[in-house]
Amino acid sequence: MHFRLEPLLSEGQVGELRAALLADDAPWRDGAETAGWHARGVKRNRQLDPSSSLHQTLASALADQLLQHPLLQAAALPVQLHNLRFSRCSVGEGYGRHVDNAYMVGGRSDLSFTLFLSGPDQYGGGDLVLENPAGESAVRLPAGHALVYPSSLLHRVEPVTWGERLVAVGWIQSRIRRSDQRELLFELDTARRALFREQGKEEIFDLLSRCYSNLLRLWGD
Ligand code: NI
Repeated sequence: MHFRLEPLLSEGQVGELRAALLADDAPWRDGAETAGWHARGVKRNRQLDPSSSLHQTLASALADQLLQHPLLQAAALPVQLHNLRFSRCSVGEGYGRHVDNAYMVGGRSDLSFTLFLSGPDQYGGGDLVLENPAGESAVRLPAGHALVYPSSLLHRVEPVTWGERLVAVGWIQSRIRRSDQRELLFELDTARRALFREQGKEEIFDLLSRCYSNLLRLWGD
């Protein structure tokens, strides 16, 4: 299941983040240094040095904001968000077809996210293309919006043709390993919340809540 956080960041927050990331002294490095052995040959970008204090300050604030988003909480059921990276692609750069590693130093990757920090009018190309069983979908979101998608998919970032594409990417380890179970829980949670809004805490709400909590216990890691 894919879902979008529309928006995650306000225009002002995007502006502040961009100014910090694009400052002359911001420590950017070759992105291939952090690619898995099989993806190194197709990864062409730069990443903010994850050991720098600038990265640590920006990444921890952004991770907190992501984790507090109600849709992310309900749909992803996160245990943790890990390996947040700031990435920029200039003309000719992109990231060829690959699948993300299942396990990273920070945790398991059940869901991947891309937060766009450049608007679609600031670069050409650079589409995030996801290979679904039904075909490909190409994604370019407004600055401040994020896409969350299953880490199990093959995907790529098309080469940038003009301008610069600035994003934050990262991974979520979910309490629920299987995406079909996660989706059912999200729908059940959405239904019980709608019922609560319409009818309050009636008996049927309590029954649905019991199902939700017990399925979470049953399926959770
Ligand atoms: Ni990837």
